[in-house]
Amino acid sequence: MGWFVHHVNVQAFDVQESAKFYRDVIGLKEGVRTYPKTVGYMSSGPDRIAAFGRENRGIHVVKANPSFPAQNKLFHNPTIGGHFAITVPDLDVIKARLEAAGHIVSDAGVYAMAGMRQIYVFDPCQRVMEFNQAIDPTAGRSPREEEAHDLEMQEGGWTLHHVNLPAHNVPETVAYLRNLIGLEESTWIPANSSSIADFIVDPEMLAVFGEDNRGIHVVKPTPDFAAKNGFYHNPTIGGHFAVTVPDLEIVKSRLAAAHVQFTDAGSYAMAGMAQVYAYDPSMNLVEINQVI
Ligand SMILES: [Fe+2]
Ligand SMILES: [Fe+2]
Repeated sequence: MGWFVHHVNVQAFDVQESAKFYRDVIGLKEGVRTYPKTVGYMSSGPDRIAAFGRENRGIHVVKANPSFPAQNKLFHNPTIGGHFAITVPDLDVIKARLEAAGHIVSDAGVYAMAGMRQIYVFDPCQRVMEFNQAIDPTAGRSPREEEAHDLEMQEGGWTLHHVNLPAHNVPETVAYLRNLIGLEESTWIPANSSSIADFIVDPEMLAVFGEDNRGIHVVKPTPDFAAKNGFYHNPTIGGHFAVTVPDLEIVKSRLAAAHVQFTDAGSYAMAGMAQVYAYDPSMNLVEINQVI
């Protein structure tokens, strides 16, 4: 593979309220962001940013800053609407392919995370995507090492499992990820008794990049998906990300205690995975899952 999901960035209207959700309800441990020597125009402080995970990986909870692109000389605003970040082995190759195909690329350089060069671009559905590369071998592992390391857990036993990209034209987004970003499509491994077996096998509806269903899911927004499955949430609309936790039952009991409505989907889509969906306080859809 040579690539992996580095972090997810979720917009928060109230950063401390969202941080409380990820910390006290989902059960993640707050991490410490490490910045480069020369840092761009960044907001800081507990009202502006919270991070979960080690070495800038994991989840970034961020307050929107409409001035961010002007302040940092970017075309894209990674603080509005959130974004997903993928670490790749060669950012220059990807940037060249994107620009040759007519995409506008914001090359932020190393400005927000120690040892990481970052670019931003829109995917075919105009969603901000970040691609990054560790440029300082002492600051980060090589993508191969990091990929192996990725299978280890974050402190407390959680890990990012996948990001879900809604795509009105799934094959178009698949072509973008394959031809411009250079990712290899893989095959979905369904749950034993999947209630969405037809959905899973249709390349117009679903595609997966990454091994064992981890990585990137590209999904066609489907209005009746929730009703057909008896869900409170529709994970095909608006995108979501998934966190694997060591004990889903404890998370469910904390969600209930906090009066957060959640969908207990059970093992319906991915082999060996029980899944729960809930909104964070800023209405970002979060999947919490557990290997069963
Ligand atoms: Fe980011
Ligand atoms: Fe998901």
